[in-house]
Amino acid sequence: MKKMVLNIDKVTGFIPKETIAAFEPQVKACMETLENGTGKGNDFLGWLHLPTSLTAEHLADIKTTANTLRENCDIVVVAGIGGSYLGARAVIEALSNSFEWLKTQKNGPVIVYAGHNLGEDYLYELTTFLKDKKFGVINISKSGTTTETALSFRLLKKQCEEQRGKEMAKKVIVAITDAKKGAARVTADKEGYKSFIIPDNVGGRFSVLTPVGLLPIAVAGFDIEQLVAGAQEMEKTTGTDVPFAKNPVAVYAATRNALYQSGKKIEILANFNPKLHYISEWWKQLYGESEGKENKGIFPASVDLTTDLHSMGQWIQEGERTIYETVISVEQPNFELKVPHDEENLDGLNYLEGKRVDQVNKMAELGTQLAHVDGGVPNLRIIVPQLSEYYLGQLIYFFEKACGVSGYILGVNPFNQPGVEAYKKNMFALLNKPGYEEASKAIQSRL
Ligand code: PA5
Repeated sequence: MKKMVLNIDKVTGFIPKETIAAFEPQVKACMETLENGTGKGNDFLGWLHLPTSLTAEHLADIKTTANTLRENCDIVVVAGIGGSYLGARAVIEALSNSFEWLKTQKNGPVIVYAGHNLGEDYLYELTTFLKDKKFGVINISKSGTTTETALSFRLLKKQCEEQRGKEMAKKVIVAITDAKKGAARVTADKEGYKSFIIPDNVGGRFSVLTPVGLLPIAVAGFDIEQLVAGAQEMEKTTGTDVPFAKNPVAVYAATRNALYQSGKKIEILANFNPKLHYISEWWKQLYGESEGKENKGIFPASVDLTTDLHSMGQWIQEGERTIYETVISVEQPNFELKVPHDEENLDGLNYLEGKRVDQVNKMAELGTQLAHVDGGVPNLRIIVPQLSEYYLGQLIYFFEKACGVSGYILGVNPFNQPGVEAYKKNMFALLNKPGYEEASKAIQSRL
């Protein structure tokens, strides 16, 4: 089996190799801190050896539940927000046919999402779409109290029970939440839903290899064993015993911190494959929520290319030089499509005749890399052999571990998210939630 590869050749024109290499002792120390559980946020390190600790029984339990949903539903709504939905969506969208899902039910249920916004029109349209459909719900919330998810679930539970009857609803509603606390746990226990536990020591954005990600991915028909196998492989490849230069986690964490210290405050994650859009969304949460604290942290941004070369391309090429780019490059497409001959050649494309679309895409990628480097944008490349469960498992674990190490180099606790509470407090005060009386008075006086 091949491996995901990290290439930093196009960074060393901006930062000397020695500067990156000088991070070696610090990276080593941070990796050991992570391994020994002696650093900040050490009660949230359950993800570190999760791939190699998942048992066959646990995966079988997830697959059995997934099959129940696959057999009894045409649509499955995954309700969750942030870490409770982005990982699953990232993998499902990376592996799904871009159009087949429109046909519905051919290869199992269609996956749709809720609980990640408070858009009334979105929820109206979703509940209208679900009318008369055989649908089920996976309700995902670690705290079990997140407003966006809880509100959506209230609507979906009621509709599912009314449409499908209480007994069937019990079969096709699954909860993934805390073992003991939170409203989602109370409801699951009272209604007798099948439920899975999110381990205490795994934070939302690191939870894709728990049932949070694995169940929806299995319901969508993808091979969770292969996903886990890829992650296991990366767990070994990035161990503390692997030398710095051969350890992609060490090199990525060192390079991004070296770039940050040189004034590159924004990392743009770029892809040349539209299926990777949600991988970028997941990555932005992972790095943004982990590093953006104490008035520090690289700002994680993303572009889908070549699409965004026609919108953000100008900024990347000639805007403020505070950015660097990390490109996820997929080596081999899963299908083959060649540019056909056209007798009249009105579009002038006959020079591409017989070439695969991917060859054109790859030249766009290379041309973009050289242009951006010429324009003063350091460029890292992550080469993924193919879009498959196995390689996505590698990529996910690579990013998770590099995030932990990188956050420790920065000196923050990468595993908490205290800043997320500020908007919630204001929202609850504005909505007069019981318990927020004082905050309500205070916020009203500011309006
Ligand atoms: O990464 C995180 O911890 C957050 O993004 C949470 O996953 C998100 O806020 C949802 O929280 P919960 O799972 O408690 O509903």
